[in-house]
Amino acid sequence: MSQPRPAPSTKPFLRALGGEAVWPPPVWLMRQAGRYLPEYRATRADAGGFLDLCYTPDFAVEVTLQPLRRYGFDAAILFSDILVVPHALGQDVAFKQGEGPVLDALKDEADLARLDTGRVLDHMRPVLETVSGLAKAIPETTALIGFAGAPWTVATYMIEGGGSKDFATTKAWAYGRPDLFGRLIDTLVTATGDYLIAQIDAGAEAIQIFDTWAGALPEADFMRWVVEPIGRIVRRIQTERPGIPVIGFPRGAGILYPTFVRETGVTGVSLDTSVPCAWAAEAVQPLAVTQGNLDPIHLVSGGDAQDVATDHILNTLCGTRPHIFNLGHGIVPQTPPENVARLMERIRGAARPDAV
Ligand code: CP3
Repeated sequence: MSQPRPAPSTKPFLRALGGEAVWPPPVWLMRQAGRYLPEYRATRADAGGFLDLCYTPDFAVEVTLQPLRRYGFDAAILFSDILVVPHALGQDVAFKQGEGPVLDALKDEADLARLDTGRVLDHMRPVLETVSGLAKAIPETTALIGFAGAPWTVATYMIEGGGSKDFATTKAWAYGRPDLFGRLIDTLVTATGDYLIAQIDAGAEAIQIFDTWAGALPEADFMRWVVEPIGRIVRRIQTERPGIPVIGFPRGAGILYPTFVRETGVTGVSLDTSVPCAWAAEAVQPLAVTQGNLDPIHLVSGGDAQDVATDHILNTLCGTRPHIFNLGHGIVPQTPPENVARLMERIRGAARPDAV
């Protein structure tokens, strides 16, 4: 069900995605809801486990809104996780405190055959309820972002059974049994596409696709397992829900960022911390709206160094071309909340760089 929403032109985040060089640049932060906020830690304790938090709409709406109340970000991102998709497909997923995610690793063809795309939307009902609750609850000028993990990154967790340093088992599937791995990727393309369309129908106004481990692959496999599947999801959204912008985050793509943008057709692209801003201004901004890329660790150390790094992004990427201010990766739990306040003051108080 579509929610009534104000015209996109009232929302700076959507105006930027529409190609406007909005000043001051719209800002939100990856993982803006999370453990660095005492109010998040309190709600998480009330909810019990992390997945209970994700699947209880009242709690999930509350933690999504917490950072908006403090900082007035230009976008809210649905509070959930990329690993709800494997869970919805029937894989066991658990989050152990201090350990990160643990999944019942896929071992063979039989495990793959048990994954069931038919149960995804039913499983996601509470998450979709969170999206529609948020569409009603967020301020008029705030945009609502829905999201999912990209097939490659989600597949690494499904095959490794959790986080990994080298993705050796996943790569062994991708390189050694591409037919089998391709079937997993196809399953994820279908499930992720269904899920994202449902988020849009529940009120998400833009979509971000997180490919956290995209940078682990050599070029040919990056094209096959990162670019191609994301391109299929993007084209499906563009066909079935035209006008909804999609932001890709191919973390670690390096000089393949422009290729990623061209071949997937994303509207926006999130730059990781390693991407030089001046290079991105030349090579990426003519192709897509950029987002990023302050090192999240600057928000831990703060002070003048944080201001200098913030100004560098404002001066190289903002003002004359559309850019959405963000981090190069998610905010970390040890971030002092006052450094986020300092960042917001710096961005919103900055003088517009001279138009060229
Ligand atoms: O950005 C937001 O505020 C929205 C919520 C969000 C979470 N995870 C909440 C979360 C989003 C967009 C994600 C995406 C996500 N999840 C990614 C892609 C982006 C990235 O950061 O690279 C990945 C790889 C995951 C998988 C995941 N979830 C891991 C590896 C972990 C454990 C490590 C960690 O940071 O704790 C999680 C848990 C998780 N997801 C937490 C939060 C707030 C912490 C859980 C807790 O409260 O204990």
